[in-house]
Amino acid sequence: MTRREEYVKEYYESCMGEGQVDKEVEAVGLFLADNVKGKVLDCGCGPVPQVWAICMPDATEIAAIDLPQESIDFVKRKLVEKKDWYMKFYPYQKLIESAKGNLSSSYILNQVDKVKTVQQADMTKNIPFEDGHFDTVVSLYSLGVLRNEEELDNAIINMARVLKKGGKLLHVNTDGKNANSILPEYTWRGLPQASEILTPFLEKHGFSSITIKKVPLKDYEGERMYKYDAISLLSAVKS
Ligand SMILES: C[S@@+](CC[C@H](N)C(=O)[O-])C[C@H]1O[C@@H](n2cnc3c(N)ncnc32)[C@H](O)[C@@H]1O
Repeated sequence: MTRREEYVKEYYESCMGEGQVDKEVEAVGLFLADNVKGKVLDCGCGPVPQVWAICMPDATEIAAIDLPQESIDFVKRKLVEKKDWYMKFYPYQKLIESAKGNLSSSYILNQVDKVKTVQQADMTKNIPFEDGHFDTVVSLYSLGVLRNEEELDNAIINMARVLKKGGKLLHVNTDGKNANSILPEYTWRGLPQASEILTPFLEKHGFSSITIKKVPLKDYEGERMYKYDAISLLSAVKS
């Protein structure tokens, strides 16, 4: 296994592989359950789009892109190894049931089956889908790892292009205390205050109804690859 493949596996296991719902997963999961609908793009999905899919009950189908091929290969393997998922990720189903009411015993597998496309792409260069294809685009911790404002601007232009009018962009970002020099830079480098600096770019590229909610995580005590004190949840509508 190459170092990058090891990292992808370690990231998966450390972030979500045990299926536990901590305060952070709870905040992000309920944010997704409330806002995601229709055709969804998970942009910068890392090894986990199939896990966040469980928090998207109103998604009809999900596509995912990521920069390194290693993440894509990992997700494709996970998608065919899903038989033990019902038990492992049941806490995620309980979380979504707390907001949406009872869900069926096949809920988790049905959600994972909604992940139809997983492919390598650089969101700052081209998002390989037609104009107006998606109802929702999510960036779960991914716009915040871009290197500079030019990359951010290009990524927003590309996201705006593939979103339908009235579609939503959802962005989760850390408070920027996530540098970890032993990990690949594409996972943490970049723009710690991305949620704050995003607003003018969003307005420039035709988004409105921009809201940002901060969630403090100070009492978090678990082991994590990255340490940060808060996340922000941003929502914007393409006008
Ligand atoms: C902190 S990880 C988040 C992964 C995942 N979304 C999650 O919720 O855990 C940031 C992700 O953004 C991806 N990324 C960074 N630059 C990218 C780019 N230019 N295009 C697509 N993905 C990118 C990285 O490969 C990485 O998987």
